[in-house]
Amino acid sequence: RRTATADTELEGQQIKAGDKLALWYLSADRDESVFENADQIIVDRANARRHLAFGHGIHRCVGARLAELQVSVLLEEMAKRRMRVNVLGEPERVAACFVHGYRKLPVEISRY
Ligand code: HEM
Repeated sequence: RRTATADTELEGQQIKAGDKLALWYLSADRDESVFENADQIIVDRANARRHLAFGHGIHRCVGARLAELQVSVLLEEMAKRRMRVNVLGEPERVAACFVHGYRKLPVEISRY
């Protein structure tokens, strides 16, 4: 939370000096002004590199390339063995206002 030091306008919103401001990451990867059909998982979408899973800017994940490699290898090896993950129920979410994260998600691995 920050306090504005001067009057300004942001995205059509008037901000007065002294106003208290909080930054919320509302849409992120589902931002429809950035991603077409933002609520759908489209793994080969043209601007997938703009997804925020590894953060952004100077705090971007330094392990991003390693993590991408690990996930690619995992998916390739699962595909070779004809294994897939099936979601069995609704996720239990982390009770936090900052990240809408998962605490639990029941799954099973099956062969196809
Ligand atoms: C799918 C796996 C991963 C995801 C989704 C992920 C996600 C993230 C995110 C979102 C941040 C930024 C946090 C922030 O804004 O402060 C971050 C930072 C970081 N990650 Fe990852 N990460 C993953 C794997 C890894 C791996 C494999 C490593 C190391 C080998 C790693 C090392 C780091 C480090 C050191 C930072 C701090 C970078 C900095 O603040 O300068 N991460 N990660």
